[in-house]
Amino acid sequence: MKVINFFLSLFRQAFLDNLKMNITNKTTKRLLIGLIMMLSGILLPAITVLAQTATIPVETANNALVMQVNANKDLSIEYFGLKLANAGEYSQIPGTYRQAADYTGLYNSAYTPSGSRNLLEPAITVTHADGNNSLDLRYVSHKVSEVSDGVSLLSILLRDPVYNFEVTLYYKSYFKEDVIEQWSSVRHHEKGNVILYKYASANLYLKADSYWLRQYHGDWAKEMQPEETRVTHGIKTLDSKLGTRTNLFQPSVFMISLDKPATEDEGSVLYGSVEWSGNFRVDLETDPQDNLRIIAGMNNYASPYTLKPGEDFVTPAFLYTFSDKGKGDASRKLHSWARNYKLADGKGSRLTLLNNWESTYFDFNETKLAELLRDTKKLGVDLFLLDDGWFGNKYPRNDDHAGLGDWQENRQKLPNGISSLVKEAQAAGVKFGIWIEPEMVNPKSELYEKHPDWVIKQPKRDEYYFRNQLVLDLSNPRVQDFVFNIVDNLFTKTPDLAYIKWDCNAVIYNAYSSWQKNQSHFYISYVEGLYNVLKRIRAKYPTVPMMLCSGGGGRVDYGALQYFTEFWPSDNTDPLERIFMQWEYSYFYPAITSSNHVTDWGKQPLKFRVDAAMMGKLGFDIVVSKLSAKDLEFVQNAVKTYDSVREIIWQGDQYRLSDPTNSSVASILYTDGDKKTGVVFNYLVNNRYDHGNKTPVRFRGLDPAKRYRVKEINMYPGETSPVNADLTYSGDFLMKIGFNPMVNSGRTSVVLKFEAAD
Ligand code: GLA
Repeated sequence: MKVINFFLSLFRQAFLDNLKMNITNKTTKRLLIGLIMMLSGILLPAITVLAQTATIPVETANNALVMQVNANKDLSIEYFGLKLANAGEYSQIPGTYRQAADYTGLYNSAYTPSGSRNLLEPAITVTHADGNNSLDLRYVSHKVSEVSDGVSLLSILLRDPVYNFEVTLYYKSYFKEDVIEQWSSVRHHEKGNVILYKYASANLYLKADSYWLRQYHGDWAKEMQPEETRVTHGIKTLDSKLGTRTNLFQPSVFMISLDKPATEDEGSVLYGSVEWSGNFRVDLETDPQDNLRIIAGMNNYASPYTLKPGEDFVTPAFLYTFSDKGKGDASRKLHSWARNYKLADGKGSRLTLLNNWESTYFDFNETKLAELLRDTKKLGVDLFLLDDGWFGNKYPRNDDHAGLGDWQENRQKLPNGISSLVKEAQAAGVKFGIWIEPEMVNPKSELYEKHPDWVIKQPKRDEYYFRNQLVLDLSNPRVQDFVFNIVDNLFTKTPDLAYIKWDCNAVIYNAYSSWQKNQSHFYISYVEGLYNVLKRIRAKYPTVPMMLCSGGGGRVDYGALQYFTEFWPSDNTDPLERIFMQWEYSYFYPAITSSNHVTDWGKQPLKFRVDAAMMGKLGFDIVVSKLSAKDLEFVQNAVKTYDSVREIIWQGDQYRLSDPTNSSVASILYTDGDKKTGVVFNYLVNNRYDHGNKTPVRFRGLDPAKRYRVKEINMYPGETSPVNADLTYSGDFLMKIGFNPMVNSGRTSVVLKFEAAD
């Protein structure tokens, strides 16, 4: 039928062109053109309707992904966007487009096979057992099951008509949050192994006049640098080939705005992300019809996968949400989804902490730590986090050249072990947490000496180091046991250990596993091995808070975050930098996940640094004993203030009010679900003369009918606020006119709290 449609549209176009050339009488010409357009308008959709054997919609609260099966049993995406009131009208959508011909009938394939009719970027590429490279996938059946209230799972089975090869596409949809997780599963019953050369999780298809990509790049201390460009024809690929710490140069999160770049409150925008902590690949291809094909999943780089008959190859999920109300709405949907369904303990609480990394680095002993435990209590935070440098004896971890892999307490620094520190912490009235980097090894370590075969390195080539270290081969089950035991031993010896910071500083060079029979499986098996370990840890220790760190934000993705309660966005804690960075992270990850520490980085005053860190999960990495009396008083009060508003920041709705890239003041608002109360953080991000709040900042997310009192909080001792806390304003006023936080060079950061007055 596609072919008939195609010839019909060609015929119509040729006829119209001919008509335009030959008829000179304008009225006759118009009448004839009108008649032909009308007839073809009726005929084409009618034929399309006849051709359909099934329409498969995935509907969420506001959106619909509509797939269709034609008479040829091709499964295509006919529509993705806002849900129609009448589902019966989805089948009329294709008839409303007059785009160029599709020579294959597959441009909008729901999972594009290669080697048969396809001419564009495939979602899957294979070599069959008999050496043939062609694949065709036809619809066989589909079913929908209810996973839980508001969550359903659609699965669609596709099969090659020639080869005994099939793919099941899965769409897990979260109704209220408008989120879909999509993945695929591949299997075959051929007479030998099949090699998968590409195996995307998802293949999407968008239609718009233009597409605007917001993507991110970075490096150490420069994570989440945004770039926004119009997507041109050809293929734009976002990917990573780093193996571990895979977001060092680029994360898989991205946005596509339709027709024009979406703003915070306006525009249609899709957010996408691959739930995978290894190499990923997202292809964005504008096809000859000017539609956008998105093909996302694990990176197939150096990874042809040999699949035995009867085995399942299951991809990780590609996650997406869509909003026609701008970036703010899309991000709030993702935040709710993450807290409700994905994050470890997403609806739970978090611990504030004092970390010793920047105050001691590797140089500490029991006396110094005892002091830090007392400082933790003095500060008023919940936990002390002991960072790198506590382990290694034959090769003590006194700098980053030695010790990784030898997870025994260093007898010189900690003669009484971790358990005595935990007891001491308890006596001081605080909890105790610890840093580990369990996937790594220094060549200067007993582990390396004992198990050189556990290390990822090329047997015939020189070793090449990243931060003087190598990565352990987590594809090897014995290494998985070793890594699991690092955590398990810590908890067995010290059951009261309350927190883990899990670091991962190195990328994979010289990818080679002495355990793997097939080196092409290595990159995938590494991540599967990592997830195996994390699953085992979570099965045994379901509630312990764990921070996901990777030399900063080198591993921030929802594949990993299902095991972690929070992540470390960057080693760059300069508060000015963090305002920009946290802003970008906040599109994709809720504030409860963002570990923000107050450190000595940057030139901003202490209050500014604390305010910036409060916009997520607050922590400190400063020398408390060096604070002046006034600074100490401020920080102690700030922790109490934070405790009084943290629930709103962690579980509330976030609204970005004033963008630091376009304004000299950045403003971000968090409000509780009932719209009764909230906090607004405001910062001066431009130090040039006379910059600041000239105009009020319009609030968002309030109840227009409620009256609110606005007061300034988290003031530095001795300062008075120009904000009159006695006045009340309607939500209507605060959202239409706004409120002036009066940020200027004398008030570089201002935190406001609003509360319903009645
Ligand atoms: C990484 C982390 C830091 C710190 C050091 C310790 O760089 O990002 O926070 O833990 O390792 O070596």
